[in-house]
Amino acid sequence: MGLLNNFLIYIIFLILFQLLVEVKPQDLRNSHTATLIDNKLYIIGGAGDGKYPPSPTFFYLNVSDSFDTNELKWHDLTNINNIPPFKYAAATKGGANNKTLFLYGGIGLNNESLNNLVYTFDTQNNILLTPTVTGIPPNGKVSITSVIDYNGLIYLFGGHSKELNIYTNDMFILDSINLSWKNVSSINAPSPRVEYGAVFLPNKNIIYIGGYNENVGVFALNEVYLYNTINDTWTTQKTYGSIPSARYSISSVLSLDNQKIIIYGGYGPTLLQSINPENSLYVLNISNFNWYIPKVGKMPPTRAFHKSVLIENYMVITFGKGYTQETDKDILLLDISNDNEYIWKTSFDLGKNNSTSKTSPIPPGTSILPSPDSEKANIIIGAIIGSTIGIAVTLGSFFLYKRKKHTKKQDGKPSTSQNIKDDKILHISSEKDNNNDNEILHIPSEKDSNNDKEILLIPSTTQLNSEKNEAISEVIVQNAQNAQKNEAK
Ligand SMILES: *[C@@H]1O[C@H](CO)[C@@H](O)[C@H](O)[C@H]1NC(C)=O
Ligand SMILES: *[C@@H]1O[C@H](CO)[C@@H](O)[C@H](O)[C@H]1NC(C)=O
Ligand SMILES: *[C@@H]1O[C@H](CO)[C@@H](O)[C@H](O)[C@H]1NC(C)=O
Ligand SMILES: *[C@@H]1O[C@H](CO)[C@@H](O)[C@H](O)[C@H]1NC(C)=O
Ligand SMILES: *[C@@H]1O[C@H](CO)[C@@H](O)[C@H](O)[C@H]1NC(C)=O
Ligand SMILES: *[C@@H]1O[C@H](CO)[C@@H](O)[C@H](O)[C@H]1NC(C)=O
Ligand SMILES: *[C@@H]1O[C@H](CO)[C@@H](O)[C@H](O)[C@H]1NC(C)=O
Ligand SMILES: *[C@@H]1O[C@H](CO)[C@@H](O)[C@H](O)[C@H]1NC(C)=O
Ligand SMILES: *[C@@H]1O[C@H](CO)[C@@H](O)[C@H](O)[C@H]1NC(C)=O
Repeated sequence: MGLLNNFLIYIIFLILFQLLVEVKPQDLRNSHTATLIDNKLYIIGGAGDGKYPPSPTFFYLNVSDSFDTNELKWHDLTNINNIPPFKYAAATKGGANNKTLFLYGGIGLNNESLNNLVYTFDTQNNILLTPTVTGIPPNGKVSITSVIDYNGLIYLFGGHSKELNIYTNDMFILDSINLSWKNVSSINAPSPRVEYGAVFLPNKNIIYIGGYNENVGVFALNEVYLYNTINDTWTTQKTYGSIPSARYSISSVLSLDNQKIIIYGGYGPTLLQSINPENSLYVLNISNFNWYIPKVGKMPPTRAFHKSVLIENYMVITFGKGYTQETDKDILLLDISNDNEYIWKTSFDLGKNNSTSKTSPIPPGTSILPSPDSEKANIIIGAIIGSTIGIAVTLGSFFLYKRKKHTKKQDGKPSTSQNIKDDKILHISSEKDNNNDNEILHIPSEKDSNNDKEILLIPSTTQLNSEKNEAISEVIVQNAQNAQKNEAK
């Protein structure tokens, strides 16, 4: 009867879904965020390349095993990304457990300001929310790079304020553990700017490199700026050697020996001017502030407005402007393990040929809760061998979700920053929930205790993806062209 049909539909859904998630090409994007947490590289938002917003808007790559950049298996999390599509935001790993993604700043699709909202994504439970943060927030920060220190303090310098239409050079600290804002010193800080490079150094200084201000232009790299997080002071540091030309929208990472900064890509020395590939990669020795071009193989086309993350031995460069998917991959891997020569690679290899080290160690403190994908695998196995109760419950929550969604669809309006303020929580139902029979009610944690929150249950991480995308695209297509016009600043 119905149950069997539902069962089959469920199975088909899962299979289709697997295909969708694993092989669906991602839209080209830039000005997104890229954050490594627990062997997952999370990508959020960004501006599209003729398409706005790029789809999906929230996904990750599992980097706990080797992968090839020709066959990137992205896992879609768009379902829980219940925030308007946006670009030019900043994301950092933080929180008490060091496993929460903090997202701040940027601008939204309808020019709505998202500036004063901090979004957190709890990667252990897949919960997205907008927590209350005490203290006075910045006036908004678009196009900044945020960095975190060893104590969970996130530093947000400069940026553009959408509200005031000004470039700023103020320095704010977002305490990712206590959830508070603090405005600290901008005395001797670099002039107001966006799209600089920033790295937290082992000596607890933050280095700031390059950037842009439409009233001034692109900033030179013959000096860099150091913010001392211990005593809240700024200094300007001259640089030497083969000083790179002025540039912005670069990415920067610390070298594996902690002695150098590696910068890649960007535009300059004038607005939107492409940088010759041969001049797109530089190293800054932070002992003597000497710049040099490292020995490296043939450089790919230069990317700007991309994001780089250090993972194991690789500078992992994600998306950006300046390449096409016909000729290049969305991810570039620069093996920086050998200081005598950096090597461009297409395969991300862990453990360097050591078959034993291929099995990824479980990081200390890892929750024993199943991760979303192992949940998915469990759901499949469970469905095939059996518990009809489990299936019924899952279907129940699915239809509950559908019904809710339907009611939502009818008002047909995109989320506005107004209703985001209601602290939406999306809880992903899991095997665990089903087994515990608490499938419908999300058990609120301390942070959920306000009343005006909307709670939605979704059967699995990604199951309803295509449907959701449809709903989103209805909303966004109308605004696409307008938004696209504003893209280049
Ligand atoms: C966004 O704001 C700009 C002016 O700042 C305006 O030209 C544009 O039409 C707006 N776009 C949307 C989608 O409202
Ligand atoms: C932060 O402090 C600086 C002074 O250091 C001040 O100029 C600026 O207006 C403050 N920003 C906000 C948003 O209060
Ligand atoms: C987070 O992890 C980093 C290492 O990845 C560590 O240096 C830092 O102290 C941790 N932060 C907190 C607040 O535990
Ligand atoms: C966070 O709050 C606790 C308790 O209120 C306090 O002891 C601690 O110093 C705060 N941490 C920071 C970094 O402000
Ligand atoms: C801050 O610390 C740095 C490095 O330790 C030191 O050189 C500088 O004098 C200190 N500044 C102040 C105002 O204490
Ligand atoms: C960086 O500078 C230090 C101090 O001058 C020097 O000892 C070291 O060899 C330099 N490293 C590189 C890679 O040039
Ligand atoms: C394998 O790992 C061991 C221990 O980490 C290391 O000593 C050895 O050099 C590695 N072998 C290869 C081929 O990388
Ligand atoms: C792994 O082994 C292969 C062949 O044995 C070799 O060509 C390759 O360079 C090795 N890779 C690393 C990272 O050592
Ligand atoms: C990531 O990949 C590893 C190794 O293949 C696997 O054990 C793990 O379950 C995967 N995690 C997720 C969340 O997909």
